[in-house]
Amino acid sequence: MEGKKVSESQTVMTEMVMPNDTNPMGNLMGGNLMRWMDIVGGVCAGKHCAAHVVTASVDHVSFQKPIKVGDVVTLEASVTRAFNTSVEIYVEVFAHDTKGLNPRRSNHAYLTFVALDEINGKPQAVPALIPLTEMEQQRFEGASRRRELRLLLSGRLSPQDAVHVKSFFQV
Ligand SMILES: CC(C)(COP(=O)(O)OP(=O)(O)OC[C@H]1O[C@@H](n2cnc3c(N)ncnc32)[C@H](O)[C@@H]1OP(=O)(O)O)[C@@H](O)C(=O)NCCC(=O)NCCS
Repeated sequence: MEGKKVSESQTVMTEMVMPNDTNPMGNLMGGNLMRWMDIVGGVCAGKHCAAHVVTASVDHVSFQKPIKVGDVVTLEASVTRAFNTSVEIYVEVFAHDTKGLNPRRSNHAYLTFVALDEINGKPQAVPALIPLTEMEQQRFEGASRRRELRLLLSGRLSPQDAVHVKSFFQV
């Protein structure tokens, strides 16, 4: 299977925050933002894998600045690394008001998607990622550490088998 560049699957999604998307304070509800992050990440992962994908995990998401009704939200998704049947996707969220003023980076998260075989619904191999820029290289290298941590936290990896995280606790 041929490797693919990050640019081949990069995905951008823009939404305007409508009253139906908000909490009682008139700010975008966190769950709606997470839904959009999941959608843009899934589209990006599906393009890289050329397959149906499912969300396997979402890493830490924090909401630093409120996004108000009427604000425009832009979500950018890129593959950081492909493993065997899964890909890690980096999603960054930006907001500005309807006039394009008060631009800000709202938050970001790493999501993991698994490609599924269309016939039996089992995980299938994904194309490798070819990181080109310095930033793409950095994210690519960090991805194996993040993967280890999330597999540990989800109980899929035993602490004895963790290579990177073990070094955090060594003096
Ligand atoms: C994700 C899922 C397909 C994994 O299936 P599985 O039978 O456990 O498959 P495997 O053990 O072979 O793991 C497949 C890949 O998923 C990855 N994975 C599984 N659970 C993970 C988790 N919690 N976080 C990150 N990656 C995970 C594995 O590391 C593996 O990746 P790799 O092949 O690149 O090394 C399965 O758990 C599933 O269908 N989950 C529900 C997905 C879903 O419906 N999401 C929508 C929200 S409800």
